[in-house]
Parts: sequence; structure tokens; C-alpha cells
Amino acid sequence: MRDMTAAARAPGRVELLGNHTDYNEGVVLGAAIDRRATVTGASRADETIAIRSADFGAVKVQLSQLRPLTENRWANYALGVVHELRELGVPVAGFDAQVSSDVPIGSGLSSSAAFELASALFILKLFPHQLAPMEIAKACQRAENHFAGVQSGLLDQITSLFGRKDCAVFFDARTEEVRIVPFPAGLALVIAESGKKRELASGEYNLRREQTRAAAAALGVHALRDLNSAMLASRSDIPALLRSRAAHIVGENDRVWHAVELLNRGDGEGFGQLMNQSHESSRQNFENSTPELDLLVSIARQLPGVLGARLTGGGFGGATVTLCQRAGAVEIANKLSRKYEAQTGIAPRVFVCEIADGAA
Ligand code: GLA
Repeated sequence: MRDMTAAARAPGRVELLGNHTDYNEGVVLGAAIDRRATVTGASRADETIAIRSADFGAVKVQLSQLRPLTENRWANYALGVVHELRELGVPVAGFDAQVSSDVPIGSGLSSSAAFELASALFILKLFPHQLAPMEIAKACQRAENHFAGVQSGLLDQITSLFGRKDCAVFFDARTEEVRIVPFPAGLALVIAESGKKRELASGEYNLRREQTRAAAAALGVHALRDLNSAMLASRSDIPALLRSRAAHIVGENDRVWHAVELLNRGDGEGFGQLMNQSHESSRQNFENSTPELDLLVSIARQLPGVLGARLTGGGFGGATVTLCQRAGAVEIANKLSRKYEAQTGIAPRVFVCEIADGAA
């Protein structure tokens, strides 16, 4: 049999608004960014999966022995995808793959979803099988849940797959509606990495998932999506911690719906204010910010040309996203970096990101 070759790539994403709403059946806004994972390679005549990463080394696994690795855990994202696609009937056999990525790792920019999606599209090219895009996204989410142990929602995979250049992606996690929303011309996004690794992040993330589930149960709703602020205000009988967690989700859902209207009108200023409110809610209600993320946000907000700033992604470390005038974006990035370093001694990675097309 002649070896088949294939290549696929998928971008990281920035979460613009709608923090931790996805697994509460809520709504969220994200955008694909111009940083991506690439997987290239060829099929093999045997049942071996050989994956090589320029940064992390190489693994070889037999298809019959597919399970999460305890060493070389970076490979679990791809191995998890192989497992999930096989479950869906994709005729995956042995292959060689080289992977590379310039999506920052551990920064809340979904380097893992980018790797999963690039792996999935690569495998589907080598071993063709008809799957709807939503099924591919969900298979990648399950790979993350089962092989990487993070009980994440669907935001990252949806945004990486459905992203559109210069547009935001709206996703309703209950109805599974995906909508492309215009991003205001003349504005830009600056990403600033806090430089703090998210070591306990998956534990804290899974704990927030538990707490929001407990809040929904205490409030007698199927999911926090079913709650509004008036209903929540009338319920002082539930534990304060659960109330705060629920308030974050209710507020974030409201902000996303409002943001879609604002973006359709090209109202960047209003959108920036919602981003600021989102961060305050993360800090106070959801407690998924850190002193470093708070500092990045507060420095950014004092710079001329900035419309809003917030943490992006899961939180507990990682990065912030700042909305600003495009004309001054590079200068804003430089100033943010200098001022943060002066106060913390940490030289952060700060860059102006372009909103890119989704996986291909
Ligand atoms: C991570 C998860 C997403 C989402 C965000 C928080 O990125 O992977 O599913 O929950 O955190 O909004």
C-alpha cells in the first residue's frame, strides 16, 4: 500500500467574554488567533502511532494499547483524539506524525484544543470518514476530558474550528448555535501572559465545575443557564459561595447577549466596558483571577487607547486580553510589558494578536 500523507493546522483562541459559561449551558464569545498547531505525517503499514514534537520529544504507541500516558503527557491530546475518533467509527490505523505549535502553552489560549483539532483533521484526512464539524469538536473535547483529565467545556474547540478572520465567534452551549459576529474595525486585541504557570489550574477548574453544578442544584434549576439575576437576588437562602459562583455565570451570560448587540452595532467602547465588568466578576465572584492578572488588567486600563481588559480562559494564571485602538496597539503592548516588569520583575510575553480563520 502506498503511504498517504496529510497536513492540518488549527489555531489557538482567545476568550472575549463568557467566562466558565460553556459547561453551564450558557453563551460565550471567542475568536481564533494567529497562533496555531500543525500536524503533518503519513500512514504506516502497521498498527503503530509514532508522534514526534520538536519541543517535547517522541512517543510510540500501539493502537491496541491506547490509554493516557503518565509520562510524555503532551501526547495525550493526540492519543485521546485517536481514541475518540475510533469510537466514532473512523478507521484509524498506524501513522507517523510531526507536531509543532506556536500557541503559548499554559496561558489560557487553548494550545491543547489547537493540538487536538489539528490532530483530528490530520487523522480524518489520512483515514477519511464523514463527520460533522460539531461532532469533530465534541470528540476533541472528550479527548481532553478523558485523556488529559480536564473537565472543560466546548468553547475552545468550537472557536478553533469555526473561527473566522476579523470576526468573533458566538457559541450557545445549550442549542449548539454558532454565529459569526463582526469585530469592530479599527480595534485590536493585545494578549499579555502573566508568566505564572497554572500548576493547580485543572484542579481549580474542575472544582469550579463542581461548585456551579452544586449552585444549580441548590437553586433548583437544571443548569445555571436557566437562572436570571432577579431569581438569584431573591435567593439568600443558599450558601454565599454558591451564590457568588452563580452570580458570575448569570452576569457573564447577560454580558455575552448584550455584547452581541453591541458588536453588531460596532460599539467597541460598550464592549470594552463589558470586558472590564467580566474581570471584576471573575475576581470577586468566581475567584479565578490572580494578583498578576489583576495587575495586568489594572495597568492596561490606565493606558490611553484601551477600551477594556480582562483575564481570558480558565484563569488561575495564564493571560489577559486587552481591547484597544488598533493605531496604538503596539505601543500599548510595549508599555504594558514594561510597567508589569517594573512592578513584578517578570518579563511578560505581550503581543498584538490578529483574529484568524479556524482550523483547516
Ligand atoms: C477553559 C476551558 C473552556 C472554558 C474556559 C472558561 O478554556 O477549556 O471550556 O470553560 O476555560 O470559560
